[in-house]
Amino acid sequence: MNKVMETMLSHRSVRKYTDEPVSNEMLESIVACGQAAATSSFIQAYSVVHVTDTDHRAQIAKAAGGQVWVNNAPVFLVLCADMLRINQCCVGQEMGELEGYAEHFMAATVDVGLAAQNMMLAAESLGLGCVFIGGIRNDPAVVRDLLELPKHVYPAFGLCLGWPDQDTEVKPRMPVDVVIHQGKYRADTVAEDVAGYDQVMSEYYGSRSGNQRVSNWSEQTAAAIQKKKREHMLAFLQEQGFLLR
Ligand SMILES: Cc1cc2nc3c(=O)[nH]c(=O)nc-3n(C[C@H](O)[C@H](O)[C@H](O)COP(=O)(O)O)c2cc1C
Repeated sequence: MNKVMETMLSHRSVRKYTDEPVSNEMLESIVACGQAAATSSFIQAYSVVHVTDTDHRAQIAKAAGGQVWVNNAPVFLVLCADMLRINQCCVGQEMGELEGYAEHFMAATVDVGLAAQNMMLAAESLGLGCVFIGGIRNDPAVVRDLLELPKHVYPAFGLCLGWPDQDTEVKPRMPVDVVIHQGKYRADTVAEDVAGYDQVMSEYYGSRSGNQRVSNWSEQTAAAIQKKKREHMLAFLQEQGFLLR
């Protein structure tokens, strides 16, 4: 175990921050660490919008289901999958506009995810606390319109950053041997794997310091996933020039 791995393994989302600001210099270093992530075919298909207007921030927090930490974090960023510059390359090279292939959506979405995780890790290594905000996809058109996101760009998720004003426990992940499959996929143990992890998470939910509840991973996951269908997403992504073929 080294310091980087220790930082990774002590990750927990932080949703409450002190009033201490995060300097622009620090923010730029964090974004530079995001940019250092590997990127499909070197396309670097992402942009980071630093939301500086308080009214925009309030409207985005509301669109994200009233998440107060979106309003209160010293820094709020919208992380976008961005194929606009790649489109420019293609047009400039007289190879035609992008046509919205699913593969390009995948590449840009993976790229923004990798950059985002590098940013979060860099921020956490500096002692900052962070949380991603997928809630912005509740109403992505609001985010697009406020931030004037053009075609070939979509808001994937937000990132709140600030100095932690809470100390929550690390949430136990699934056992490594549930996630690793040796040689071939092992589907026949899935029911027992989930049942075993339900037991672990039920103990965690019942004993953690805040927000204790009687529940398990299956219950929480099924409720969250079936609630967040966000049926508007396909049409929204198509409006932005993604997933057309
Ligand atoms: C893409 C993504 C979107 C997320 N969206 C939200 C969100 O909208 N609001 C929130 O409070 N947490 C959000 N989270 C944080 C997760 O709830 C959190 O990472 C998960 O419960 C595991 O907890 P931990 O990060 O403390 O280990 C998001 C995480 C990811 C990766």
